[in-house]
Amino acid sequence: MVNILRMPCDNKSGWFPAAERNIVDLRFRFAYLTRRYSLQKRKESISDGSMSLNDLSSLRKEYSRHSLDEADVDLNPFAQFNVWFQHAQNAGLPEPNAMALATAAIDGKPSARMVLLKGFDERGFVFFTNYEGRKSLELLQNSHAALLFYWPELERQVRIEGAVEKTTRKESEEYFQTRPLESKLSAWASRQSSVIPGRGILEQKMADLREKYRDQEIPAPPSWGGYRVQPAAFEFWQGRANRLHDRIRYTLEGGVWTIERLSP
Ligand SMILES: Cc1cc2nc3c(=O)[nH]c(=O)nc-3n(C[C@H](O)[C@H](O)[C@H](O)COP(=O)(O)O)c2cc1C
Repeated sequence: MVNILRMPCDNKSGWFPAAERNIVDLRFRFAYLTRRYSLQKRKESISDGSMSLNDLSSLRKEYSRHSLDEADVDLNPFAQFNVWFQHAQNAGLPEPNAMALATAAIDGKPSARMVLLKGFDERGFVFFTNYEGRKSLELLQNSHAALLFYWPELERQVRIEGAVEKTTRKESEEYFQTRPLESKLSAWASRQSSVIPGRGILEQKMADLREKYRDQEIPAPPSWGGYRVQPAAFEFWQGRANRLHDRIRYTLEGGVWTIERLSP
């Protein structure tokens, strides 16, 4: 197809005898126009934001790399997570610690965004953010959240649900000091989730802050810190052939983790 697009439409280069040249010309022109029409249609459907079910239904992937059996998983979901997280790290994924965080406001309306996992142990899963942005306001109204890791190269996802608490000020401050200088400044410059007139205001604030903190230690802003999601449920999902995926769920009751297999 690409070759057809590159061929000249009026063939004056003498590749064919004159009589055949017109037929070849017509064929090229027809193929060229057909190709242009289908590209145009595709462009239109992309630019008007639509994509038909037919376009998407052909996207199909078989999962076949690994399996997950309730007999083999660790009895402790944190230890099981640790095993999978090591696999994700060893697989060289760009950001294995990237996770979707879902929160819900008091009216029940959910919202989701990506955040970075910065630590985990049996107390929970920690991320850092602004305490006045949308997610934080929602967590104030409803302290339950869900996390989702997706590691496509391993055909795995992990779902975690639980109550959320703030990390201690000491933990937040300690982590803040490990951030690069510009990230420290941007935590001061940004009132996360607020509407701003343009990017210029951020650049200006950054310049002012660079000046203000020249040769000084930058403290963590009071409106910035960590949250810890304390899991009450985990689900480890392993993609399998023919959509018969493995799903192993852990739920916490009375301090004991129960392990069950879910239907895909
Ligand atoms: C891969 C990735 C990692 C991110 N990590 C963080 C993070 O750790 N903390 C954070 O506040 N925002 C992070 N963001 C930006 C958030 O997705 C989001 O835009 C921001 O937190 C504002 O969300 P909110 O308005 O719901 O509070 C990340 C975005 C991406 C794409």
